[in-house]
Amino acid sequence: MDITILGIESSCDDTSAAVIRNTTLLSNVIASQAVHVKYGGVIPELASRAHQQNIIPVVDTALKEAGITPDKIDAIAYTRGPGLLGSLLVGVSFTKGLSIAGNIPMVEVNHLQGHILSHFIDLPDRELPHPEFPFLCLLVSGGHSQIVCVRSPYEMEIIGSTIDDAAGEAFDKCAKVMGLPYPGGPVIDRLAHEGNPEAFRFAKPHVAGFDYSFSGLKTSFLYTLRDAMAENPDFIEQNKADLCASLQKTIIEILLDKLIKAAKELKIKDIAIAGGVSANSGLREAIQAEGRKRGWRTFLPEFKFTTDNAAMIALAGYFRYQKGEFSSLDTAPVARIEELL
Ligand code: KG4
Ligand code: ZN
Repeated sequence: MDITILGIESSCDDTSAAVIRNTTLLSNVIASQAVHVKYGGVIPELASRAHQQNIIPVVDTALKEAGITPDKIDAIAYTRGPGLLGSLLVGVSFTKGLSIAGNIPMVEVNHLQGHILSHFIDLPDRELPHPEFPFLCLLVSGGHSQIVCVRSPYEMEIIGSTIDDAAGEAFDKCAKVMGLPYPGGPVIDRLAHEGNPEAFRFAKPHVAGFDYSFSGLKTSFLYTLRDAMAENPDFIEQNKADLCASLQKTIIEILLDKLIKAAKELKIKDIAIAGGVSANSGLREAIQAEGRKRGWRTFLPEFKFTTDNAAMIALAGYFRYQKGEFSSLDTAPVARIEELL
């Protein structure tokens, strides 16, 4: 029997709704919030208000594009966390309202598991490649950097995570000090193409196991800029592309060092990446090159599934639905991953 799931994502600054039938995506609508750009970062209260304005038209459009009405939905999958509490609250409250009104079951989704399970989405006109279990997923977003051993859709073990900043945060914060707009990752990615990645050297961390650290790199980047600007106030302007290329190269090396180590120790050769930073062209190329060298099968998400989207939430919800794991009306959103599942 076909299962139709409506997915709702509102954990940060994208309001998104998607419909899937089994694993096939029927629609995926994303309203990004431009309101944060002028502040150089996401302002939580403004994000909540924008979600509130966007959620009904976004869901409505997703249902129409999928050609279904609410009575055809088997379950609503929603992001319960982690994320901004006020933003999550909009998605959770909307889901509860629709659930009561239409007598539709709800399934909660961990946003990070959603990013990982985005690798199992299919498109109506073609199947996408899916990794085989167990696989390793490098999950890199604005808030998280983790290596996850994925044994099944229900069994995921975080074997490494950042002890301070996330990879996306490193991109965003370094972009900010160079006067680049938010979010910095895509801008650095673009500028890096025109620069020399060997022009500058920045500090790399020494952290045990499979854990990451990006705060030392950030500090070393800041000191380089500060010292150079003292001598030449036009330093950033004159060296922007080289700074971006060198910074990006360092972040990629830090990410890959631990991923390679984990793949070796766990003897796993199916390697995936997910999360906003997995859109980075340098990281995508580097992981494929490593894969060719090491006999990995590498899985890169389609660009539209790298940043926050409800398609991945619907897909993760599909797996939970199959296990009969429904959530009740007294479920509250959670801001931090530790409180989840
Ligand atoms: O997964 P995501 O959309 O939201 C979170 O759950 O955090 O990730 C957003 C992050 C931001 O830090 C953004 O700068 C980064 O993903 N990002 C990129 C690129 N596109 C988005 N970082 C590097 N290169 C990109 N092309
Ligand atoms: Zn995300």
